[in-house]
Amino acid sequence: MIAVKQLSKTFTAKKKGGSGSSAQTVRAVDALDLTWEKDEFIAVVGESGCGKSTLGRILAGLIPPSQGSIELDNVPMSQVLSQRGRPWSRVVQLIPQDPYAAINPVRKIRSLFRDPLLYHHRVAKSQVDLRIEELLAMVGLDPKNVLDKYPHQLSGGQRQRVVVARAMTVDPGYLVADEAVSMVDVSLRIGIMDHLKKISTERQLGLLFITHDFRVARYIAQNGTIAVMYLGRVVEQGPSEEILGHPMHPYTQALLSAVPILEGREERVNDVVPLRYEVSAHGERGCAFASRCPFADQTCRETSPPLTIVQAPDHSVACHYAESRSVVIDRSQIS
Ligand SMILES: Nc1ncnc2c1ncn2[C@@H]1O[C@H](COP(=O)(O)OP(=O)(O)OP(=O)(O)O)[C@@H](O)[C@H]1O
Ligand code: SF4
Ligand SMILES: [Mg+2]
Repeated sequence: MIAVKQLSKTFTAKKKGGSGSSAQTVRAVDALDLTWEKDEFIAVVGESGCGKSTLGRILAGLIPPSQGSIELDNVPMSQVLSQRGRPWSRVVQLIPQDPYAAINPVRKIRSLFRDPLLYHHRVAKSQVDLRIEELLAMVGLDPKNVLDKYPHQLSGGQRQRVVVARAMTVDPGYLVADEAVSMVDVSLRIGIMDHLKKISTERQLGLLFITHDFRVARYIAQNGTIAVMYLGRVVEQGPSEEILGHPMHPYTQALLSAVPILEGREERVNDVVPLRYEVSAHGERGCAFASRCPFADQTCRETSPPLTIVQAPDHSVACHYAESRSVVIDRSQIS
């Protein structure tokens, strides 16, 4: 299990103004807690800029957190190599949104696979070609059609599949897929998601799929977990059918009410109202969502609500009034 505790990441960027430049601090991930079981599928959903990719990159060990910890089966990330004998890159692999960013454009597909297989001693030299073919076949590619091509000679869907297969060269325990199908033609998305789910199920991998689309989240996390992120925090988390059927956080409710496919709600609850659209720079105190929440009161503005289990066994919400604001959605209408 991977346990993320009080994880924060701030970026400082230079901001140019009329009288020179000043530094602006962005809190991309903010005291975030998350547990991720070995074979669990988690869909992380949230609007642009809420910190999803930053979380994914930290989980994959590509950038360090500013604060907080990440543990693998109670071993801190920094000690996994010495205690478990595997580098973090073999624990978590990231599949980025843009396949071009993940693969070297001047190398043929065959050589993109050879190096990680040999470097990590995943297979004997004589078996490398066979293993590459297995990996490509695993994601539905015909090896002889792609092995001797450069990335630019492949279609977008083929490139994304290559990236998925390449992540598997190091035999990771967990996969983070960051908007992994958003740059692929709509008609090809289901196929790639199905391959990701199949590979993860067969190999008992944890899959954390980042998306801004609830329909994608539901497809990925059918028997898994949905975590809703807002301004660097998880504000609601639980079994996917529970989140989609009984959203309790006003933000989740508003996002779901904006999904056209969810129009057939059993109850048209007045509470599911449009958000107030201004995102404030969230201060230290109070609920981060207060500036957009139609139900915010003085308590909300003064005290930050912790992520708390409100529905046993594992539906957690970060809202002072979660229990009084449950909504029932007709699940048969969600497709
Ligand atoms: N390297 C960086 N330097 C400065 N700010 C950054 C950096 N990376 C991310 N940010 C900022 O951190 C915040 C979260 O960014 P992030 O990319 O994690 O969001 P996201 O949820 O993945 O958004 P999207 O859905 O658009 O991909 C944003 O305000 C972004 O501008
Ligand atoms: S704590 Fe208050 S402001 Fe925050 S989501 Fe709940 S009702 Fe809205
Ligand atoms: Mg992103």
